Amino acid sequence: MRDKPLIAIGLLVLIVVAAVAFMAGRKAANTPPPVTATAATSANLPSPGAKPAAEEAPQGNQIDAMRRGIPVNQEGAVPSLAHVENADIKRNRAYPMQPPTIPHSIDNYQVDKNSNRCLLCHARANADKFQAPPVSVTHYMDRDDQFLATISPRRYFCNQCHVVQTDAKPLVANNFKDIDTILSEQPEHKAN
Ligand code: HEC
Ligand code: HEC
Repeated sequence: MRDKPLIAIGLLVLIVVAAVAFMAGRKAANTPPPVTATAATSANLPSPGAKPAAEEAPQGNQIDAMRRGIPVNQEGAVPSLAHVENADIKRNRAYPMQPPTIPHSIDNYQVDKNSNRCLLCHARANADKFQAPPVSVTHYMDRDDQFLATISPRRYFCNQCHVVQTDAKPLVANNFKDIDTILSEQPEHKAN
């Protein structure tokens, strides 16, 4: 039997592989299930009479826009549609070059190749009639900072930069501070 040592080695390899696989299987079985699922189910379950979970900003980093943390075998309360803010009150800008948010609703305002509803009120020539703020001079500048007679093509599609706001609750917490807040937090420095 010339093959005897070969068979022995083969058997040995087989046993080692089986042992390793067995240990790996045990380890996998012992690891706890992902925490997110359990945390989401217990924290965000709407209790009867309480406001639906979707109304509150979720804890931590969890963004579950589809099921809002509600288990798959339960039906969640339908959150109400968000309303576009239409108060005509200009909002503060978070930094000087921020495109201001739109303080009015823009339902059915057509902006395409043939017509631009926004410019009906916001073009320099019409702004006084509608008491709308005219678009600033940057909207007439091309990329070489040359002033054009009409709105610059790169500023034509207003909603690329300007957006309406809704009363929807934020999906994630936001701790943005504007520059004035940061400056006021700095210790006092003597000017030169
Ligand atoms: C019927 C006229 C009219 C139309 C059309 C219109 N707006 Fe306005 N817009 C105004 C007026 C008036 C204001 C000033 C605030 C107010 O009264 O709502 C304003 C304010 C704004 C502001 C705020 C400016 C600031 O300094 O805070 C932005 C941005 C804006 N509009 C963008 C748009 C965009 C984008 C469109 C097209 C989707 C549009 N507007 C269509 C009349 C109009
Ligand atoms: C590429 C981004 C961009 C596009 C596209 C754009 N804007 Fe603006 N808009 C800005 C920025 C940034 C500001 C604030 C700084 C400035 O005035 O340039 C602004 C400012 C404004 C203001 C306030 C002006 C003022 O003096 O307070 C109005 C009104 C406005 N935009 C309307 C429009 C309208 C209407 C359109 C479409 C025809 C449009 N914007 C397209 C970026 C954009």
